[in-house]
Amino acid sequence: MQRVLITGGCGFIGSNLVRYILRNRPDWHVVNVDLLTYAGNLENTEGLEQAYGSRYSFARGDISDERFIEELFSRNKFDLVLNLAAESHVDRSIEGAGVFVKTNVLGVQVLLDAALRHGTGRFLQVSTDEVYGSLGAGGSFHEGLPLAPNSPYSATKAAADLLVKAYVHTHGMDAVITRCSNNYGPYQFPEKLIPLMVVNALNDKDLPVYGDGRNVRDWIHVEDHCRGIVVVAERGRTGEVYNLGGDSERENIEIVRAICRRLGKPETLIRFVKDRPGHDFRYAMDHSKISRELGWEPEIGFEEGLDSTIAWYLENRRWWERIISGDYRQYYERMYGSRERL
Ligand code: NAD
Ligand code: TYD
Repeated sequence: MQRVLITGGCGFIGSNLVRYILRNRPDWHVVNVDLLTYAGNLENTEGLEQAYGSRYSFARGDISDERFIEELFSRNKFDLVLNLAAESHVDRSIEGAGVFVKTNVLGVQVLLDAALRHGTGRFLQVSTDEVYGSLGAGGSFHEGLPLAPNSPYSATKAAADLLVKAYVHTHGMDAVITRCSNNYGPYQFPEKLIPLMVVNALNDKDLPVYGDGRNVRDWIHVEDHCRGIVVVAERGRTGEVYNLGGDSERENIEIVRAICRRLGKPETLIRFVKDRPGHDFRYAMDHSKISRELGWEPEIGFEEGLDSTIAWYLENRRWWERIISGDYRQYYERMYGSRERL
C-alpha cells in the first residue's frame, strides 16, 4: 500500500489527479489537503468518499500553516507527497503577489520541512513551463535551461523549484519536479483561457483576447499531465526535473475561433483588449527526456481533447454557473470591467 498526500486536490489538476490515482492505482490511499480558496471546490471531488471508502479522505487546511501540517504528518506516515496546492493564475499575481509568495513559496518550505522531519518517502513538486520565461518564434524549453520567470506567479513557482533542489542537494531528500505546459480539461476554473471562452460564448458574452491574440501556448489535456505525474512519482530519478508538454502549440486567437466554431457562435463576440502586462509571448515544451527515460508521451490530441472538454462544460452547466454567480463575479468586474478595448 502507498499512502499518498495530494495537496490542492480540490482544484482543477488536483481533482483530476485524485480521480486518476483512485481509478488506476488500487493500492494507493489518498489524503487530499486543500484550503478551499476561490479555486478549490468540494464539488470537484464529490462522491469519492462513498465510492472509494477508506482509500480517500479530505482535510481542509493551509500548506503554509506549520501547526496544521505538523499534525497532519504526525498522524499519517506518507510514502509520497504530490504538491499541487498553489495560487495558479498569472492575472491575479499581477493584482497582488502576497498570497502567491505565501502559498507557492512558504507553503512548499513548510511541506518540505515536514517531509524531512517525518521521513516521507518521496516528494514531487508540480511546477510549470512558465519558470523558463518566454520564447521567441523558435525553439523550445528543455530542462537544462536557466530559470527566467517573468510574472509574479512564475517567480514564486521558480523559487519553489529552487527550494526543492536545495533540499535534495543539502539534505539528500528524495524529491522530483515536473514542469508542465498549459492544461485544459474538465473542472478547470473559468478564469483560464479555454473555460473562460467556452463559458462566455455559451452566455453570448464578449470574448476578451489580450493584445493581438498571437501569443502561443503548448496545450496538454489534464489526463495526460496526471499520467505523467504518476510516472515521475513512480520511476523518475531523484533530484531530476521532467518537462511535460502536449506537442500542441496554438495561438490564442486560433483557440478562441475554434471554440466559437464548435459552439456555433459568431466571431463578432471576440474583443481584442489591452494586453496583460509582461505577457510571455510563447511557451513550447521539449519533453524528450521523460519520453526517453520513462516512456511517457501525450496521448490526447488537441482537437479531440477540445471536443471532449467543451462537451463536459455543456453537460456540467450547473458546476460553472454556480461559480460565475458567486464571488468570482467581483473578480471578473475588476479584471475586465474597465479594461480598455483595443
Ligand atoms: P487551481 O488554481 O485550479 O487549484 C489550486 C488548488 O490549490 C485549489 O484547490 C486551492 O484551493 C488550493 N490551494 C491554494 N492555496 C492553498 C494553500 N495555501 N493550502 C492548501 N491548498 C491551497 O490550480 P491548477 O490549475 O489545478 O494547478 C495545480 C498545480 O499545477 C499548481 O501548482 C500549478 O502551478 C501547476 N500547474 C498548472 C498548470 C495549468 O495549466 N493549470 C500548468 C502547469 C503547472
Ligand atoms: P491563461 O489561461 O491565463 O494561462 P497562462 O497565462 O498561465 O499561460 O492564459 C493563456 C493565454 O491566453 C495567455 O497568453 C493569456 C491569454 N488570455 C487571453 O487572451 N484572454 C483571457 O481572458 C485570458 C484569461 C487569457
